[in-house]
Amino acid sequence: CLYTQGYYFYKPMPVENAIITSGGVKVGEIDPKTMASKKVPGLYFAGEIIDVDAYTGGFNLQIAWATGKAAGEAAGVFDGTIKEIYFTHRMREMQTMIPEKHYAVAVDGPSGAGKSTLAKAIAAKLGILYVDTGAIYRTIGYAVKRRGVEPRDEAAVRAILPELEIGMSYEADGEQHMLLNGQDVTREIRLPEISMYASAVSALPAVRAFLLEMQRDLARKHSVIMDGRDIGTVVLPDAEVKIFLTASAEVRAQRRCLELEQRGTPKPYDEVLRELNERDYNDSHRAAAPLRAAEDAIVVDTSALDFDASREALLALIRERLQ
Ligand code: DC
Repeated sequence: CLYTQGYYFYKPMPVENAIITSGGVKVGEIDPKTMASKKVPGLYFAGEIIDVDAYTGGFNLQIAWATGKAAGEAAGVFDGTIKEIYFTHRMREMQTMIPEKHYAVAVDGPSGAGKSTLAKAIAAKLGILYVDTGAIYRTIGYAVKRRGVEPRDEAAVRAILPELEIGMSYEADGEQHMLLNGQDVTREIRLPEISMYASAVSALPAVRAFLLEMQRDLARKHSVIMDGRDIGTVVLPDAEVKIFLTASAEVRAQRRCLELEQRGTPKPYDEVLRELNERDYNDSHRAAAPLRAAEDAIVVDTSALDFDASREALLALIRERLQ
């Protein structure tokens, strides 16, 4: 497997993707301090020696991209700019290569603007973590409903917060699963009645304060694309890229209707539009972290764009900003 000067794979690759060099790599061909190839300048091996082949005297490498990166940095060859890359046929198939830099993309906007679907697709393309913060508020809304607590009663909601253990896990399906005290509530939080609970609890400063560190912590540990209402303004004010995604209320209501229909829980358009306007109003008129575009956010209106066009537009914007 390869680590090349100025380039490396950002994503940890599964062991099956290891490139087995034909005939193995001789120990003597690699500088053990830097993992640099002694034969090919600029070629680095990313891996940890797992065993020595008794017959050839070479060794097998276990994929550990971080090792190669650290070795490259220690050798002073990685200066953050992209220079050249050595491909093998396996590597050509793995398209998601970007220079590693820890960064955050904040995506804010009203319900139904397409934030989650787009952010998720972009995360997969860039190989970074997607965090749907609405799902976290929904989890609190769900907990509040299940306990029969009035969601606007701040004292009552605050009283149950210490009992809530909110967890997130990313499964093989790429979905962000939400855990509430160990129970997977990913499906339950999407029930239509939870939307209003989420909107109501999200207006409570106690709830926002409770979740702030959790969200920031994710961005400290990973490169993220995080979607919500206050990511660019409050949660990650230093995000490298800020996008405010919007669309007309009518288009958003149509999209929501389609989504509900596909989920098998259809609702009349008028009702969806009314609720959407109500939520927009609540989300943007609350005192605590109201929905608004950060001053340095790029506003993208997707009313006239389909999914593919929106995704490409956002990817182009992100790449441009990151450069
Ligand atoms: O994005 P969503 O519809 O799943 O979000 C559910 C509710 O949570 C929504 O009414 C707004 C609120 N929310 C918020 O206040 N701040 C966030 N960062 C994310 C969501």
